[in-house]
Amino acid sequence: MRIVHGIALSICALAAGVVLAGEEKIQLKEGPGVDKVRANCVSCHSLDYVLGNSPFLDDKGWDAEVKKMINAFKAPIKPEDAAPIAEYLARYYGKR
Ligand code: HEC
Repeated sequence: MRIVHGIALSICALAAGVVLAGEEKIQLKEGPGVDKVRANCVSCHSLDYVLGNSPFLDDKGWDAEVKKMINAFKAPIKPEDAAPIAEYLARYYGKR
């Protein structure tokens, strides 16, 4: 009985692992500020929004986007984190 139980548990753990891996499938490029984006920009919507807009937004666009998230949508982003986030997005996901 014990063994059967153990197997059932590991199958559950495996399944949970797969689900989690799915959630994490959007990988941001590594760079200064990436941790702040991961911490602040996924609570309301997926990072699809960030990657999907990268062809359109330049430095100013990303800056405005981050401000809009804070002012219009009340994103709980610390004031000192807004600039590093906008810089990261402009550098790695800005329109070229
Ligand atoms: C408090 C919730 C919240 C947080 C946190 C948040 N957003 Fe948003 N975001 C929204 C809402 C609401 C929309 C509009 C959704 C829609 O149109 O379907 C949006 C839309 C967007 C869009 C699509 C373009 C647009 O203006 O509609 C981008 C890009 C975006 N967010 C980037 C970010 C980034 C970058 C961060 C982190 C700095 C962030 N968001 C954090 C709520 C949030």
